[in-house]
Amino acid sequence: MENFELRGGVMHAEDVPLPEIAQAVGTPAYIYSSAAMERQARLFREALAPVGDPLIAYAVKANPNAAVLATLARAGLGADVVSGGELRRAIAAGIPAGKIVFSGVGKTREEMQFACDSDIFQFNLESEPEAEMLSEVAVAAGCQARVAFRINPAIDAGTHAKISTGKSENKFGIAEARAPAAYARAASLPGLEIQGIAIHIGSQLTDLSPLELAYAKIGSLIARLREAGHPISVADLGGGLGIAYDPDQPPPPTPADYGAMVTRVTRGWNVRLVFEPGRLLVGNAGILLTRVLRVKEGAGGPEATPFVIVDAGMNDLMRPTLYDAWHELRAVEPKGGHAIANVVGPVCETGDTFAMARRMSQVDEGDLLAFMTSGAYAATMASTYNSRPLAPEVMVNGNRFAVVRDRQSIEALIGADLMPPWLQDKSTEQS
Ligand code: LLP
Repeated sequence: MENFELRGGVMHAEDVPLPEIAQAVGTPAYIYSSAAMERQARLFREALAPVGDPLIAYAVKANPNAAVLATLARAGLGADVVSGGELRRAIAAGIPAGKIVFSGVGKTREEMQFACDSDIFQFNLESEPEAEMLSEVAVAAGCQARVAFRINPAIDAGTHAKISTGKSENKFGIAEARAPAAYARAASLPGLEIQGIAIHIGSQLTDLSPLELAYAKIGSLIARLREAGHPISVADLGGGLGIAYDPDQPPPPTPADYGAMVTRVTRGWNVRLVFEPGRLLVGNAGILLTRVLRVKEGAGGPEATPFVIVDAGMNDLMRPTLYDAWHELRAVEPKGGHAIANVVGPVCETGDTFAMARRMSQVDEGDLLAFMTSGAYAATMASTYNSRPLAPEVMVNGNRFAVVRDRQSIEALIGADLMPPWLQDKSTEQS
C-alpha cells in the first residue's frame, strides 16, 4: 500500500495527512489514491505488452465511483460491466462503448437493447436462451451484437467458495462440451455476430495454475471452433488476479508473473486478448478510515481481550463477515505500543466483527484507524443496514483531495421511504 505511508508519525494518502481528511469529511470514509490506481493500470498494461494490444476492461463492480472510472478511462482502460447501471456509469465517466464488454447471467431485454444501441465491444453470453433473447432484441432494434460465449471450464480456482465462478456447479457460463452446439446455434441466429470466447474462473486467485489450465482449455476450444467455421478473433481471459491483504502471507503472483504466463499460453492463438481486472487495479488504492468509538472490556475482566468498537460497520465493509476476509488494520498515528483486540463495528449483529484476537497498534477512544486494502468491493457493497447512511468517498491526487461521493444525509435516507395513502390519513389514527 505504497500510497498510504507514515510520514512524521502520521499516515498520509499520497501527500495528504489522513487526520486532515477526517476533519473535513468525518468518519467512516473511504479514501482513494489516484496515483495508486494509475500505477496499477500501468503495471498491468506493461505486463501484458508482449501480447500485442489487449483491451484492458476494468471490472466496474470492484469500485464504480465515477472518479475512479474517469481516472482509469484516462489511463486508456475499457470496462467490464454486469448491468445496465454499470454500463451507463462507464459511458458517463468517459469510457468509450467500443471498449466495453458486458458479462452476467441475467441480462434483461432492456439492458441488452441499451448495450446494443450503444454498440458495445462485446456481449459475453452465459447461456443459449440468452443468445436467443439477444438475437430478438438486436433484430427488433436494428443493431448487430458482437458476441462471445463464456465457458465454464469446471476448474476449482482455489479461492473462497463465494467468489469461485468456474466450477461446474456454479451458475456462470456454458460447459465446454456444450460449446460447439451453442456456437452453431448462435451462428444461425440473426442480429448476432460471433466474435469471441470468454472465461472468468473466480476472484482473489493467488495461484496461477488454475488460470493456466483454464486458458489452455480456451486455446483448444478456439481451434475447434475455427475448424467448425466460427470466426474467433477475440479471447476474453477475465479477471481474478489476487492482491496482498496480509503482509505476513506469501505475496500473490505479480502482474508480471501473470503476463509471462499469459504470453506463453496464448502464443499462436492469433486473437485480440481482453482482460477484466478489478481488485488488482483498485484494491490497494483505497482504505476505509474509521475512528475508535470506545474500548470495552472483554468478558473476564481486564485480562480478557478487549473489544475495540469502531464507527465503521459491516454495512460499510462486508468482506470480513461475507468471506471471512482479512483486512489489515493500521493506526493512523501509531503510539508505539501493541495490543491484542477484537475489532467490531456498531451494527447489531454478531457478524459485525472485523478481527478477532488481532495483534495491532495500541489504540484508544477517539483514535483513527485505517482498514487497508479497501479500494475494491468495499464502498460498492455497502448498505444502509441499521439506518446507517452511506459513508463518503474521497479521492486524493498528490497534495489535493476531493469528495467524490458525499456522505448520505439521514434526511435522504429516511426520505426515500414513501407513505401509502391509507397511512397518511390522520383521522384513522387510533388514540
Ligand atoms: N470479470 C467477471 C465476469 C467477474 O465476475 C469479476 C468479479 C471480475 C471480472 C473481476 O474480478 P477481480 O479481478 O476483481 O477479482 N465481492 C467479492 C468479489 C466478487 C467478484 C465478482 N466477480 C470480494 O469482495 O472478494
